[in-house]
Amino acid sequence: MASLEDLPSDPNYVYFKSVDRVQCRPILTGENAKPTFESIPTIDASQIFSADLEARKILAEEIGQAAKDVGFFYLVNPPVSPDKMDAAFDALAKFFALPHDVKMKYHVNNSPAAKGFTPVNPADKRKGFGGAREAFGMGNDYTNPEQHAIKVAPAGTVPLNQWPDDELPEFRQNVYSYFTEVYLFAKKLVQIFALALGLEETALDQFFEVPFTDITINHYPPQPDETEYKQVLYPHADYGAFTLLAQRKIGGLEVLNANAIWVKVPVIEHAFVVNTGSYFELISGGRWRSTIHRVCAKGNTDRTSLPFFFSPSPTTTIYPMVPAEDEGLKDLHRNIGKEHIRGMMADRPTHPFVKKLKALGLRPDDYTYEMVSQPLV
Ligand SMILES: [Fe+2]
Repeated sequence: MASLEDLPSDPNYVYFKSVDRVQCRPILTGENAKPTFESIPTIDASQIFSADLEARKILAEEIGQAAKDVGFFYLVNPPVSPDKMDAAFDALAKFFALPHDVKMKYHVNNSPAAKGFTPVNPADKRKGFGGAREAFGMGNDYTNPEQHAIKVAPAGTVPLNQWPDDELPEFRQNVYSYFTEVYLFAKKLVQIFALALGLEETALDQFFEVPFTDITINHYPPQPDETEYKQVLYPHADYGAFTLLAQRKIGGLEVLNANAIWVKVPVIEHAFVVNTGSYFELISGGRWRSTIHRVCAKGNTDRTSLPFFFSPSPTTTIYPMVPAEDEGLKDLHRNIGKEHIRGMMADRPTHPFVKKLKALGLRPDDYTYEMVSQPLV
């Protein structure tokens, strides 16, 4: 990934990365300003599983409007237990508090899908990071019985997730209790998004039968000397279908509006911040743009964010499901699994799985997602 230093700077523009391209937007003020959002809409999700189609359609209309106008919205009263969310945050805090060499047992290089622990990298000189960011990731892994309701892994499948069962016996259960509820919520949201596009409620289910799921938690341990409030995650647009972000205590998310003004997204505990990414940009024919966002914070605070990334099945090829408003998207087809492998090869050139794949000398067109979980010869 490009560092912030790679982005140009001009005080009259905001620069950001969108699908690996640097783009910019002029800052518009006074009479040049356009009508745009100045806050993030709050939508009550309590009717999402209502038996009444009309109630689900009302919710869909609100969500569709927010996706079109902003690309970000809060969902309050979601069908995810606050206790389970708290237990997941607590379990993660306990994991990050483990001694360094214990965490290193679960290093991402042990997993072909790069799930597990990413240590702080002191050589990471990205502005604001101060080298102080560690992460833990888990995602789709059908060798885990907790995911057998979604799919059972075929024989010979390699496990992808790593669990600190020896040190924290409740960790896996706490993370999975949360994951399972958020997964069901996300699957239902796909149907609400379908209604929001004016489609049959089940019209998008074909893309999400065995979806990509990914929880990657970034933990920023406090840096006592970093007292300035500044950008700690560079401006970008999300790649996937949508993200369900849980925030606790310290947030810092900011979203870019059409006038290139950063709009803050304060923490609402036990609610989700939802944003649509580039896959929904394509599925919606350009109606729902993947909105630029960044994170600002003080480095001396202890911050953890808990995002759940949701994308179509790796075997799926997506395309606009409604007439495209954007000519550039009209004939575009994107294969999710191939893009995932290509992204991994670009982002993690030193990962053992990536090196192995490169050594095979395949063309990008030959990549399949199964290569991650089936042993490579
Ligand atoms: Fe993001």
